[in-house]
Amino acid sequence: MRLLVTGGAGFIGSNFVRFWLANHPQDTVVNLDALTYAGNPENVRGLDPDRHVFVHGDIRDTATVQKAMEGVDVVVHFAAESHVDRSIDGARIFLETNVLGTHTLLEEVKRRGDQIKRFHHISTDEVFGALDLDSDERFSEDTPHDPRSPYSASKAASDHIVRSYFHTHGVPVTISNCSNNYGPYHFPEKLIPLMITNALRDIPLPVYGDGKNVRDWIHVEDHARGIEAVLTKGKVGETYCLGGNAERANLDVVKHILKILGKPESLIQFVEDRKGHDRRYAIDSSKAKAELGWEPKKTFEEGLAETVAWFQANEGWWKPLLKG
Ligand SMILES: NC(=O)c1ccc[n+]([C@@H]2O[C@H](COP(=O)([O-])OP(=O)(O)OC[C@H]3O[C@@H](n4cnc5c(N)ncnc54)[C@H](O)[C@@H]3O)[C@@H](O)[C@H]2O)c1
Repeated sequence: MRLLVTGGAGFIGSNFVRFWLANHPQDTVVNLDALTYAGNPENVRGLDPDRHVFVHGDIRDTATVQKAMEGVDVVVHFAAESHVDRSIDGARIFLETNVLGTHTLLEEVKRRGDQIKRFHHISTDEVFGALDLDSDERFSEDTPHDPRSPYSASKAASDHIVRSYFHTHGVPVTISNCSNNYGPYHFPEKLIPLMITNALRDIPLPVYGDGKNVRDWIHVEDHARGIEAVLTKGKVGETYCLGGNAERANLDVVKHILKILGKPESLIQFVEDRKGHDRRYAIDSSKAKAELGWEPKKTFEEGLAETVAWFQANEGWWKPLLKG
């Protein structure tokens, strides 16, 4: 099988490409990535060039997309602008890539008729809005979209356009909405890699607001297995929520990282809260468990320890990515 993976030089995409090639020895991956600040050829270094074809290009460009889809059986769509803070500073590129880029891909899948057996869209739990800290509610496939940040609004819009191509044009889509990922090759602007790399350099760890915001954390390898389960066992037209069963307050995550590294909590510095900061996300993955037989395997404690060790061992990867 030949897969087109978009955004395969980013954090989750590159982990997925590695995972797929290792577990599907007959398959080839075409990796279409624009190499924005978040895309890094180092993330896919060392892969067999006969099975991993890298295409430097933009999903918004029809000609590029047409060429990249030649001979492809399945499309797995990760490419996006992904950082909430950047969407607060400037939303336009989020709409262009996340909405219009997704539309460009869908048009090409539609144009190719029966050639493409599946278009799998990677989305986020952030499209569902925010939950109260003191509730035990969780998002599921039935939760209405209620995005709060320009990032999550652009992802919600892309979910809708993907679904519309299924209902209107019969494009064989699936969608997965996943919680917060962590693991190797995570760009050091996001919470976990930022805190690890700051702690390793003994510089302050900036925590938004009171640090009580809760996220559900999933190891990127569990996410990759979840996508594999959707591709191999999922039903066309369906959405699957993938969560890590690991709700943690940001401050607890930061303290845990400091503990693993043996660094003092005095490095924590509370900073002005993010605008419109969603209080809590949590995912109910029971549909994925019942229908796909998928559930996350790694505990947060084990995954976090491994991730910290990866950053300790791979300074040569993250140091060139730091600002200033
Ligand atoms: N990181 C998370 O915790 C998380 C959780 C749930 C869902 N998601 C979704 O998973 C996907 C991947 O997230 P990530 O954290 O790996 O993001 P990332 O920012 O690390 O990677 C995004 C990749 O897309 C590429 N890209 C951006 N614009 C492009 C364009 N116009 N054309 C081609 N390539 C382009 C970038 O170069 C980069 O390699 C996104 O769709 C995101 O919304 C992320």
